[in-house]
Amino acid sequence: MYRTHTCGELRLSDAGQTVTLAGWVQKSRRMGGMSFVDIRDRYGVTQLRVDETTDPEVSAAVARLGREFVIQVTGVVEERQSKNPKLPTGEIEIRLTGLKVLNASQTPPFTIEDESDGGEDIRAKYRYLDLRRGPLKRALMLRHRMAHEVRNYLDGKGFLEIETPFLIKSTPEGARDFVVPSRMNPGEFYALPQSPQTFKQLLMVAGYDRYFQIVRCFRDEDLRADRQPEFTQIDCEMSFVEQEDVLDLFEGMMRHLFREVIGVTIAPKIPRMSWYDAMDNYGSDKPDIRFGMKIHEITPLVQGHGFSVFDGVEYVGAITVPGAAGYTRKQTDELTEWVKRPQVGAKGLVYIKLNEDGSVKSSVDKFYAPEDLQRIAEAAGAQKGDLVLVLCGARRKAQTMLGVLRIEMGNRLGLRNPHEYAPLWVVDFPLLEWDDETQRFYAMHHPFTAPKPEHIDWFYSNRKEDLERVCANAYDFVLNGVELGGGSIRIHEADVQQRMFEVLGISKEDADYKFGFIINAFKFGAPPHGGLAFGFDRVCALFGGQETIRDYIAFPKNNMGRDVMLDAPSRIDDIQMDELFLKSTAPEK
Ligand code: AMO
Repeated sequence: MYRTHTCGELRLSDAGQTVTLAGWVQKSRRMGGMSFVDIRDRYGVTQLRVDETTDPEVSAAVARLGREFVIQVTGVVEERQSKNPKLPTGEIEIRLTGLKVLNASQTPPFTIEDESDGGEDIRAKYRYLDLRRGPLKRALMLRHRMAHEVRNYLDGKGFLEIETPFLIKSTPEGARDFVVPSRMNPGEFYALPQSPQTFKQLLMVAGYDRYFQIVRCFRDEDLRADRQPEFTQIDCEMSFVEQEDVLDLFEGMMRHLFREVIGVTIAPKIPRMSWYDAMDNYGSDKPDIRFGMKIHEITPLVQGHGFSVFDGVEYVGAITVPGAAGYTRKQTDELTEWVKRPQVGAKGLVYIKLNEDGSVKSSVDKFYAPEDLQRIAEAAGAQKGDLVLVLCGARRKAQTMLGVLRIEMGNRLGLRNPHEYAPLWVVDFPLLEWDDETQRFYAMHHPFTAPKPEHIDWFYSNRKEDLERVCANAYDFVLNGVELGGGSIRIHEADVQQRMFEVLGISKEDADYKFGFIINAFKFGAPPHGGLAFGFDRVCALFGGQETIRDYIAFPKNNMGRDVMLDAPSRIDDIQMDELFLKSTAPEK
């Protein structure tokens, strides 16, 4: 037997026992005639002690240990002289009687401590060493627990876990596909699923009325803190349901996860907000409702005063930053530069300060009398001591910029406590989104989302204004400004699905080629159905108090989509290329 206990297990009540532990050397140090070693494994850290005078041999072996050596030790559990209240094992230590080196280690390229001295790249290259650190270990443990509780909850509600294939035909979730060449079918490619969307709908046609899967999805898109090219979804679908049934069941799942995984009780009813209200008030389809600072439209109040920037635009909006009237010129200049960054995209920023002494100061004093500025600031919800920030432009674009500024101000004022949880359903999404560049509609969620029955006439209209008004029974689950999940009630009739492809400018031939299988399936008794998918990595990260998902994935990619440990993607050899009938035109690196 390699060990009698783990390194996180022993307590004062075990004093006097002879034990054997195995693990890694966290650190060793000498003090007076004593040597101490911290031994670590997945479960914790235990202190080992050896006395040079009584155990010279073991002591000499300890002196030869380096960081991350794998050792097996035997000794007696004793009460510690100076206890460490921060460690669960901090009341005891093990007086060594034997030590065996199971494997030596090179000096690791960074310290394996909670706060490592290693930069991101080096830690990614040696991910297996990074994974020894406490924060990553806790992240993966949380992930395991989460998956377990998802299965518990959904199994309890009669869901079947069913796997779906990875080598498939393109699924339209709006990103680019990763493709895989087929050796046996020269010149033809599989696509990796962006989600199992079409398969779960086919399972509904097949009668498996409650399906779920914790499943890997693949999307070739630009990466961000909360995006990976391969990520995991909790993917679900149900038959014979309306939106309310879906929201109810998954509200229950989130409540269960909060309680069981992190011991948090969330409000008995998760609030709901229409997409239109979310955009108008928060400038985002995933509002962070942990703090106020809502957007106020002030267009009619600011136009007609000779300020041409405002006079010529569709929309002027403002947010009020509480208690920030004292911002200096330097600070407002810095904010102006901040909103001009490409990530925000504003041309400039106007401010109004409602000073504590009742006076008003603004960057557009020239055009507005103090009473006008007072009125505008009050319309933006400001009181004495507050700072009003104003942006303008096309309605949705200006609102989106204000939304980004609002989040930034929330961060700067410390209003976004990661351990406060404010879940929200965003509902009533528009079905379609017009794209000026390509002059066509795109599905806001995906092309399988059904129009609201009461909007079906608009859906069959050929007028752009009518189509823009069509709403869907689509919903997103939002937590703290992050989209954790989304879904919809689906189309289940072949002719409605055909019409959807037509609205999206997909020709009948193209629709048949790409999606003939699902249109066909709908002709064989497809039940009404709907569902949703949660981003599993994001759920884990947010529960752990982070917005970056990388730490919650054992082996993630960097922001160029590379696995720097494997050095992938990489070229393949010529024989393999020939077998696949491939030729690369990429320049040599
Ligand atoms: P959607 O595209 O909204 O819906 O994806 C569902 C959830 O998956 C997460 N997510 C991601 N997480 C990490 N990295 C990514 N690149 C990434 N992309 C998406 C998000 C998102 O809310 N088939 C539909 C669901 C349905 O209609 O049932 C779908 O995939 O948290």
